[in-house]
Amino acid sequence: MTEETRNFGTEVGRLLDLVVHSLYSDREIFLRELVANAADATDKRRFLALSDETLALPANPAIRISVDRLGQTIRIEDSGIGMTKEELADHLGTIARSGTSAFAAQLAEKTPEDRPNLIGQFGVGFYSAFMVADAVEVISRKVGHDEAWEWASAGKGQYTLKSAERAEPGTTIILHIKPEAEEYLEPLRIKTIIRKWADHIALPIELEEDGKFEPVTEGKALWRKSRSEITPEDYADFYRHVGHNFDEPWATIHWRAEGTLEFSALLFIPSSKPFMPMEETRDSKVRLHVKRMFITDEAKLLPHWLSFVVGVVDTEDLPLNVSREILQATPVLDKIRKALVNRVLSELKAKAKDTESFKGFLENFGAVLKEGIYEDTGHAADIAALLRFDSTKEEAVTLDEYIARMPEGQTEIYYLAGDAANLKTSPQLEGFAEKGFEVLLLGDPIDAFWPGRLGTYKEKKLVSVSQAGKLFETGDVTEDVKALCEKLEKALEGKVSGVAVSSRLKDSPAMLVAAEGGPDLAMQRLLRRAGRPVFGLPPKLEINPAHKLVQALGKREDIATEAGLLLDLAKLQEGDLPEDPAAFVRHIASAIAGE
Ligand SMILES: Nc1ncnc2c1ncn2[C@@H]1O[C@H](COP(=O)(O)OP(=O)(O)OP(=O)(O)O)[C@@H](O)[C@H]1O
Ligand SMILES: [Mg+2]
Repeated sequence: MTEETRNFGTEVGRLLDLVVHSLYSDREIFLRELVANAADATDKRRFLALSDETLALPANPAIRISVDRLGQTIRIEDSGIGMTKEELADHLGTIARSGTSAFAAQLAEKTPEDRPNLIGQFGVGFYSAFMVADAVEVISRKVGHDEAWEWASAGKGQYTLKSAERAEPGTTIILHIKPEAEEYLEPLRIKTIIRKWADHIALPIELEEDGKFEPVTEGKALWRKSRSEITPEDYADFYRHVGHNFDEPWATIHWRAEGTLEFSALLFIPSSKPFMPMEETRDSKVRLHVKRMFITDEAKLLPHWLSFVVGVVDTEDLPLNVSREILQATPVLDKIRKALVNRVLSELKAKAKDTESFKGFLENFGAVLKEGIYEDTGHAADIAALLRFDSTKEEAVTLDEYIARMPEGQTEIYYLAGDAANLKTSPQLEGFAEKGFEVLLLGDPIDAFWPGRLGTYKEKKLVSVSQAGKLFETGDVTEDVKALCEKLEKALEGKVSGVAVSSRLKDSPAMLVAAEGGPDLAMQRLLRRAGRPVFGLPPKLEINPAHKLVQALGKREDIATEAGLLLDLAKLQEGDLPEDPAAFVRHIASAIAGE
C-alpha cells in the first residue's frame, strides 16, 4: 500500500497558523465547522441521488460522533458524497479552496429551489480542526466509487495520502486531540457545543454513548416549518429553549419573508420580565442563523428598545467573513433589521387591541419600548401610539384617546414626569383640573426624556406641566406680594432663577417649575440623581399668595431662613430631599416648638 506525502497547495504553514490562532475567536467552533461539512456532504449526495438513485443515501442518514477518551480521539462520520483521492488532495490540501462553493457553482444553472442549500463557501472551515487536534485523518469514499482513501496531516505544511478501507461511501474524520484541548473529550461538552451551534440543521446528529449512537439534536428547525404544522406547545418549548425563559410567550411572531429579501423568523415576546434586569442586557440577543446553522446572537438584529424580543432569524444568504463570525455591514442585514422592527411593531399594534393583556406587556417592557422614541425617530410616533398612560382622569390612556377628548381651546398635550409614587399628589397638577385639562402621569425614568425628543404627536405639542407656567401666570399682583417675591429672590439667589406668583396653586404654598426654556424638572432630577451635571438655569419658585404661610412670610422682615424652608418644602413635595435635611429638621422642630 503506497503512501504519498504531498505539500499543501499554498504556503499553508502561515495560513494554517492564521486559521488555528486567529480566525476563530472560540475553539469550540471546530465542531460546528466539521458538522457543517458533513451536513453539506450529505446534502450534496441527496442532490446527486435525485438524478441517479444508485447514489441514494442509506436509510436514516445522520452525522455520528464518537469520543474515545483513552485514545484521545474524536470521530465524526457522515454518509455524504465522500471524496476521491484527488478531491482529498484538492479540497483539503489547498486552503481556501472550497469544493463546496465549486460544487454549488456548477449548479448555477439549476433553479434555486432545486439547488441544495449548502453552508460551506470559504474553504477554511475544515482547518479549524487543528485548533484542537495535533493530527487529523480523513478516510473518505466517494459515492459511486469502491475505493477509499486516507488523507492525514499534522497541519505542518504536509499531508499524506494512502488507500484505505471504508465499508460505505462517506467520510470519517478522526481528530487526535491535543493535551491542552482535552476538555473536548467530554461527551457532555460535545453535546453542549452541538446543541449551541447545530441544533437545527436538518440532519440528525448522534453521539455514541456506551456503544450506542443516541440522537443529540432535534434536527428540526422549527422556524422553517409552516405554522400549521406547529402546536402552541412546540412554540412555547422552543421559546423557553431559545430565550432561556420559564414562562409562556406573550406573543409568537412566525413568518417567512420572500422576494428580494429571503429569511425565516420566529420571534417571541415574553409574558414576564426576564431575570436579568434589561439595563444589563441592552443588546438584542435574537439569534442569527445562516442556512439553519447558528452564527451569532450578537448581530443586534433588533434595536435596544426591542431587546426583550427573543428568537431566531434564519437567512439563506448573508455575506459572512471567512470565520462566519463577523457580519459584513451589508444592506441585506439592514434590510432584515428594518423588516423585523416593522413586523414586531405591527404585531404590537394588533395585540394592543386587547387592553388588559397589553397593559401587562407595557408593565413588563413599556420602559424599554419607550427608549425607541428617543433612539429611533423613524418609529417614534408608531411607538408613542402604542403607549398607555395613567392620567389625572383615567388609567391606561392612549395619546389618541387623550387628543380625542381635549376640551375646546386646549392645543397641547400636558404631562407630568416624575417618581410614580408622587405624581398624583404633585402640586404641579393644581390648576389643570380647573381648566378641564387632563394631565398624563409619566412615572418611568425614561419618561423624563422621550416627550422632549418626540416634541409633538399628531401636531399637538407635548408640554410638561412644570414648563406650562405661562398658562397660569397672573398680571395683577399687589405691591406686598411683589416685595415678598423680591425678598425671596434675594434670599434664594443662585438656588432659583426667579420667584413668580402663580394662579394655579390652590393647596400648596409654593412649588418649583422649570426655568423659562430650561429642562423639565423630572429630567433635572434624573440627571442630578445620576450624578450628571444639570445644564440650564435652576428652577423657578412659584408662590401662592393666597396661602397662609406665604401671607405670614409677607408680614416678616428677615425671611432668609424661612425662604430656605419654603424652597425645601417645594423640593420635598416633588419627592426631592432638602438641601440640608438635618438643618431642615432642626428648623421644622423649632418652628413646631414655636421658638
Ligand atoms: N465531510 C466531508 N465530506 C465531503 N467533502 C468534504 C467534507 N469535509 C470537507 N469536504 C470538502 O472539503 C472542502 C473544504 O472544507 P472547508 O470546510 O474547509 O471549506 P468549505 O466548507 O467549502 O467552506 P467553509 O470555509 O465555508 O466551511 C469542502 O468544500 C468539501 O469539498
Ligand atoms: Mg466548511
